[in-house]
Amino acid sequence: MGAVTRTSESLSPELYDYLVAHSAPVDDVLADLAAETERLFPGQAGMQIGPEQGTFMTLLARLSGARDVVEIGSFTGYSAICLARGIPADGTLLACDVSEEWTTVARRYWERAGVADRITLRLAPALDTLRALPDDARFDLAFIDADKEGYVGYWDALVPRIRPGGALLVDNTLSHGRVVDPAETGAHVQGIRDFNDRALADDRVDVVLLPIGDGLTLARRRD
Ligand SMILES: C[S@@+](CC[C@H](N)C(=O)[O-])C[C@H]1O[C@@H](n2cnc3c(N)ncnc32)[C@H](O)[C@@H]1O
Repeated sequence: MGAVTRTSESLSPELYDYLVAHSAPVDDVLADLAAETERLFPGQAGMQIGPEQGTFMTLLARLSGARDVVEIGSFTGYSAICLARGIPADGTLLACDVSEEWTTVARRYWERAGVADRITLRLAPALDTLRALPDDARFDLAFIDADKEGYVGYWDALVPRIRPGGALLVDNTLSHGRVVDPAETGAHVQGIRDFNDRALADDRVDVVLLPIGDGLTLARRRD
């Protein structure tokens, strides 16, 4: 998991700014969270999803009628707010992370956003959390955005738990173009490549890899 810039893949800065300016504006809660994350954790702030991706995820959750959502990798809480805003007031979001420090900020902003009551945070390696779920736990939408070496494992644990017609979103799946650079042999990029191959070959889902952020895979669980 390395620092990433908060822009969509392969857009000039001017075009990216135009795109953001012509998307629904983020409110003060998300703007303040982005600013505070940058101030508190300047070396990691780029891990946060960008504003256009957040708006896309809110709209996707709402359009799909998702009620029960799971997030792998919450950091300071930005993507969780975007997802939680797309589900009904009685919906649920299971947020998985390992960092007490980063999610302390998240909890504060979930309260401020008025979505804390929908979110359950589990501080443990996400694969342990997923494996400990009751056999009948099911989700309408999953968002994977944690350690890239773990993506295939998260996918394998989550796909059977996604209801037919439900969806998975997986972040950083172009890894800033490094997926097509043969010189990139590190575990991070290889984890992404392995995941992309795995998702494409999985006949339980239909998959599209979108150039949002530094690659966002959207998969729909077949009926
Ligand atoms: C890219 S950041 C998530 C960014 C977040 N989705 C957002 O938009 O702000 C990755 C997060 O994954 C968490 N993480 C790393 N390894 C993990 C693991 N094995 N289990 C759960 N979370 C993990 C890190 O603590 C970090 O907060």
